Amino acid sequence: MAIDQGTTSTRAMVFDRSGAVISREQLEHRQIFPRAGWVEHDAAEIWRNTRRVTAAALASADLRSDHIVACGLTNQRETTLLWDRATGEPVHNAIVWQDTRTGALCERLAGDASVDRYRDRTGLPLSTYFSGPKIAWLLEEHPDLRARGEAGELCFGTMDSWLAWNLTGGPDGGHHITDVTNASRTMLMDIRTLQWDPEICADMGIPMSLLPEIRSSSQVYGPMRDKGPLPDVPLAGILGDQQAAMFGQACLDPGEAKNTYGTGNFLLMNTGVVPVFSLHGLLTTVCYQIGDDDARYALEGSIAVTGSLVQWLRDNLGLFPHAADVEKLAATVDDNGGAYFVPAFSGLFAPRWRPDARGVIVGLTRFINKGHLARAALEASAYQTREVIEAMQADSGVTLSTLKVDGGMVVNDLLMQFQSDILDVPVVRPVVNETTALGAAYAAGLAVGYWDSQDDIRANWAEGARWQPNMPTARREDLYAGWNRAVEHSLNLA
Ligand code: G3P
Repeated sequence: MAIDQGTTSTRAMVFDRSGAVISREQLEHRQIFPRAGWVEHDAAEIWRNTRRVTAAALASADLRSDHIVACGLTNQRETTLLWDRATGEPVHNAIVWQDTRTGALCERLAGDASVDRYRDRTGLPLSTYFSGPKIAWLLEEHPDLRARGEAGELCFGTMDSWLAWNLTGGPDGGHHITDVTNASRTMLMDIRTLQWDPEICADMGIPMSLLPEIRSSSQVYGPMRDKGPLPDVPLAGILGDQQAAMFGQACLDPGEAKNTYGTGNFLLMNTGVVPVFSLHGLLTTVCYQIGDDDARYALEGSIAVTGSLVQWLRDNLGLFPHAADVEKLAATVDDNGGAYFVPAFSGLFAPRWRPDARGVIVGLTRFINKGHLARAALEASAYQTREVIEAMQADSGVTLSTLKVDGGMVVNDLLMQFQSDILDVPVVRPVVNETTALGAAYAAGLAVGYWDSQDDIRANWAEGARWQPNMPTARREDLYAGWNRAVEHSLNLA
């Protein structure tokens, strides 16, 4: 089984040895927006949903927990929580990765250095995206939390730690652990030694007693607790969701890459045992570590807003009732009619890292209708992906001959064709599109010997659909130039 705790929902899925889906259950949780730029989740609701989907995934396929050989856990990364070590109660709402409240704090930390102050140790620029500054913000804003943190009364965790704590113990505590991939997104871990960095913690004023133990991504961490949904099943894999998708896509050799279309887009390329430091605005991140093996690294291009723009059109503008309707609406027009939508709702992430950028829609004329807006919203995912791929090719020297894709939006034919057109490379989707959950299941199954080796994972990957580029060069470059002009407007609002 895999538990996939994502930004908008939590799901549980059961897979067989061939990687086929046996069962799947999913529940959405509340998105809390207390003010402009703030995004929060209720961690107790997430734990409740986790218990429910896990039980439902067993029940709907007539399974018992003793049918499950191991459980893997994967999660939205960076989202930050503090909870009481004695009671297991969260002491505030989780601060979500998209939240921009730490902008000023990050500027202060950069000081006279630059946003790259910690890049050589952490692989990351100082940004509102990562957990360390979010913890620092909580402790600065709430002196009572600082006092309790310094007294050793609190635990910090990303969602993997929060769920592992609850899955492996009672309210008074299970294992306080995280894995190397999640730890690499806190900005507090040295990505070479895979240990917390005391100097960075001191700079941010974070007591190290808050931090979980860092483990590999695939090992038996311990049995799940008796009273939980999966009594005695070994918890045996933990990976951040994008790294899990690398596993699910079998991107296990250097040079292999995938692009996941979720709330945001995340393009990762495996760089093997070498952490490659980007000169073009990408992140260096731990890709995975299997047991005692050397860690593998990846270059990552993170795009904050892609799928969540479709949700925004649905929820905030009421353009359609269901997210999937965006394709039908976009197909009512031949092209974007000259309109571009830059969804810089959390500033712009890779490759620009401009927290001050804001969303814009440009190129409007009386001719533009909601079909054009739907189309411009979908196209934005494809243009942003091209920017990240150009940076990736410049950093790695590897030219992608095809793009492996997965995630919720890749059932959208119009978007996938446009993606292939704007990149001028074929786009390929695997048969099992649930690569994030599958990757976490693989990590857990490898640890308990359900799969013998990574070759089994490679052998399970199969192509499900392919889109070929079919756009004249001049048209492609015109559209991309229009996008780049639109981005300038988004930056000029700063
Ligand atoms: O870094 C954020 C990422 O892990 C979120 O992924 O799939 O929940 O949008 P997702």
